[in-house]
Amino acid sequence: MFTLKKTPGRDFQILNLSDPQLEGKDWKADGAKRHILEGTVRTLMERVRPDLITISGDVAAPGDFDGYEYLAAFLDGFGVPWSPVWGNHDNEKGPETIRQVAELCMRHPHCLYESGPEALGDGNYVIRIEEEGKAVSAVVLMDTHDRMPYVTPEGETRREWAKLIPEQIAWYREQILALNAEGCPSSILVVHIPINAYRAAFEEALVPGVDCSKISIEESARGVGWKPEYAAVSFGVLREGFSIYPEDEGAFDAIRGLGSTKYVIAGHNHMNNAVTRRDGVTLAYGLKTGIGSYWAPGMNGGTVLTVSSDGAIRLRHEYVDSSPWNGEG
Ligand SMILES: [Fe+2]
Repeated sequence: MFTLKKTPGRDFQILNLSDPQLEGKDWKADGAKRHILEGTVRTLMERVRPDLITISGDVAAPGDFDGYEYLAAFLDGFGVPWSPVWGNHDNEKGPETIRQVAELCMRHPHCLYESGPEALGDGNYVIRIEEEGKAVSAVVLMDTHDRMPYVTPEGETRREWAKLIPEQIAWYREQILALNAEGCPSSILVVHIPINAYRAAFEEALVPGVDCSKISIEESARGVGWKPEYAAVSFGVLREGFSIYPEDEGAFDAIRGLGSTKYVIAGHNHMNNAVTRRDGVTLAYGLKTGIGSYWAPGMNGGTVLTVSSDGAIRLRHEYVDSSPWNGEG
């Protein structure tokens, strides 16, 4: 467990970057992909002045050490602690490769990362945020792996997007009980693949039968598409489906039961950045950072979580116009 200090009288700012996913050759080519990612992150750093950067997975391309090294060196240059979780692409080459990637990142002095218990994957760890010796919140980062088998009701076994395994939910419970015991009032969970509750939460919050593809970011922020009782706590868009393990892994029940985690942030679906609330827990898709892999126009930037002294958390997307860096490659 790490501890970061919050400055009294100033909110603690967390900047989440999602799915940057550039390969080493994209950095070497010095083209639009690189310029948009660098320009976007620089702009976000100036606007947000974060105390911590989190990356909600799909950091680079599978096993492409050059890509990780470029991104790690670039992020480390800001002198701000940065903490990744791994996405399905990061994990694609297996545990030995991700261990090497983690070691590469940890060679950079500002990378704050722990592999955590080996049986849980790589990168299950906690960052406490402390003000004058007292925990005011915490960031729990968890590995959602790559893919896992799923047996359909018809008995067919399919490879599906992975999930948090039961041992990880037990680990989460232990971490949260320890935080609760010291009076820590809130926490944030960062994952790559959304937990299963995302699907039901958004389906519940949206007006039945609404065509999400037709709702703009501005309309969504004004409440278009959301049921009235969810409009005040929901915004963002869903431009693609939910790439989630088909069965409930039980994460939301654990979150709700323990009462600590008020915000969950996930990546993975680059064209979704919707946010809603279920039973007092905000479930958020992070805004994608850059144009690595696939992307949707107008959906570039990062997500900011602001933590107050009393543990209250606010979340907003910080959009960055990528057009100044377009056409350079
Ligand atoms: Fe992903």
